[in-house]
Amino acid sequence: MWGDKMNISKIRKDFPIVSDWIYLDNACTSLKPCQVTEAVREYYEKFSVCSGRSTHSLSLELQRRIEAGRDSLRKLINAKSTDEIVYTKNCTEAINLVSKGMNLTKGDVVLTTDKEHNSNLVPWIKLQDNTGITYRQVPTDNGNFDMEAFKEAMSTKVKLVSMVHTSNLDGSTIPAKEVAEVVHDHGGIFMLDAAQSVPHRPIDVQKIDVDLIAFSVHKMIGPTGVGVLYGKKDLLDDIEPLLYGGGGVKNTTSREAFLQDCPRKFESGQQNYASLFAVKTAVEYLMDIGMDNIHEHEIKLNEFATKELHEYVHIIGPEEASERSGIFNFYVDELGAHEVSILLEEEGILTRGGMQCVHSWYNKNKIEGGTRASFYFYNTMDEVKKFVEIVKKYLL
Ligand code: ALA
Repeated sequence: MWGDKMNISKIRKDFPIVSDWIYLDNACTSLKPCQVTEAVREYYEKFSVCSGRSTHSLSLELQRRIEAGRDSLRKLINAKSTDEIVYTKNCTEAINLVSKGMNLTKGDVVLTTDKEHNSNLVPWIKLQDNTGITYRQVPTDNGNFDMEAFKEAMSTKVKLVSMVHTSNLDGSTIPAKEVAEVVHDHGGIFMLDAAQSVPHRPIDVQKIDVDLIAFSVHKMIGPTGVGVLYGKKDLLDDIEPLLYGGGGVKNTTSREAFLQDCPRKFESGQQNYASLFAVKTAVEYLMDIGMDNIHEHEIKLNEFATKELHEYVHIIGPEEASERSGIFNFYVDELGAHEVSILLEEEGILTRGGMQCVHSWYNKNKIEGGTRASFYFYNTMDEVKKFVEIVKKYLL
């Protein structure tokens, strides 16, 4: 159906955990294929050195591999240059880097949606507390982006619009290209929290014309401890690093520090070399399957779960499964979200119950939590059938 690239039984052989569990917590983190764990092992067994400092051959080869990883990320999101790809610790660090490094001051407005993950919420609340910027939210309408409300909220005082691209709460995706146009018409900067979009669908930063995006590699079958900040080069040049130190400078005197150019000025100190070593392997694995195929597969799984369960549970977000990516988040009146997750786990199905780091949205809507099943390309229709069967068994 999806051609040779989407041969799921072959793919599943690369993910040992799928034989132990029905893993439906992919929005939290993805499983890692043996090719990625093998690459991490290769680092420890054959390299185990630092890069960018010593000039011996092991260090240089490590540097080459890390830069190849950066280039694979550039290709994945179609950035113009690897200078625009900054390695961070995670998506959260990438957003914090922007919030602290952009020199936003009193009078500047930052705008988000009303359903941001804590990582794209707390930095702005704290910036408002600490600097006197104004932080505002645009309401969403049952998960759907409200373009009119957004346009009304825009003004030339809005210096930064930082919005979730695909929501970890309900899987809906904002019309990023249209939003970018409005932001730019008002002279603002547009950032996407792309943690749930880059791993699951094709993203072209140049087509969207987005200024900054943040995402995490562990959600896209890569190793833990690596995040990415993409930024247009001229913008990154104006952002101050979060950390200063070795590796981030070209030269120093006792009084002056001459920072490296992008992206290295942001990458001071020892890095997570073992994980960086494996980035290329993960990205190429995804690209080989094809981001369109991944997206299409997740929607099919979500359509099935939605068709079978929509009458019996409250689904968070848009009604149509095709508008919820690979995320099926629901609650029931009879049981708490964690209780449902625990019942599912007793049958070998792993989901995430609770507020999924979007406390502010649940609190605003007076909902105690959701049980979220989130699909990825290695999940099968049989697994989703089992999930549906167990939900019906306990809830009907
Ligand atoms: N953002 C991650 C999730 O939704 C942690 O599970």
